[in-house]
Amino acid sequence: MNCCVLTGSPRPQGNTAALTAPVLRVLEGGGVRCRTIRLHGRDIRPCTACRVCQRDWSGFCCVQKDDMGEIAEQVLESELLLLATPIYSWYCTPPMKAALDRLVYGLNKYYGGEKGPSLWAGKRVALVTTCGYRPEKGADLWEEGVRRYCKHSNLTYLGMLAGRHLGYDTVFLTPELELQAEAFGRMLLERCDPSRAERGGA
Ligand SMILES: Cc1cc2nc3c(=O)[nH]c(=O)nc-3n(C[C@H](O)[C@H](O)[C@H](O)COP(=O)(O)O)c2cc1C
Repeated sequence: MNCCVLTGSPRPQGNTAALTAPVLRVLEGGGVRCRTIRLHGRDIRPCTACRVCQRDWSGFCCVQKDDMGEIAEQVLESELLLLATPIYSWYCTPPMKAALDRLVYGLNKYYGGEKGPSLWAGKRVALVTTCGYRPEKGADLWEEGVRRYCKHSNLTYLGMLAGRHLGYDTVFLTPELELQAEAFGRMLLERCDPSRAERGGA
């Protein structure tokens, strides 16, 4: 199984990267091939709503020739999409938002003259999030947005792992949070391959 990890933090060694690492360790230990794409610094232009993408139902297409073509290809080659982002102003960071906008139009052919298919129907989506406020107040809108995004696109939403950042002078990844991240990784393995749970996690 392939997992495409899109990361939205500008800080390569930041909290979101720290919380994502144990999840990926568990996934890779379970035989999942994980490919991480750091969105910051990539050329991801905002959707301009030209709707040229709606005329071609054969794949992701866009008149903007930037890094989104390669990113969409990675998404299409994966069964699991893991979106890892810090919360900025109650939602994801700008490059993650731009990527989601490009994917929702580029892969859902719903918005042209005739309603077409979702080209990524059935893929699974999970979130790793870090935020300064309690996750119930910091990450709730992001999670709700992604839930609706998934329902609309015919994707299966698997859940969110959220860690709270209590300050730049504190240890972010506590042993308890690391255990939570590992448990989240195991849950993803089981949800992506239910026969694994029957085999006792092997
Ligand atoms: C510009 C900016 C906006 C932020 N907005 C929020 C917010 O709306 N809610 C929240 O809980 N935390 C917010 N935070 C805190 C970050 O989500 C938190 O520090 C996060 O752990 C940073 O992750 P990173 O180290 O991976 O970049 C914000 C931080 C920045 C820099």
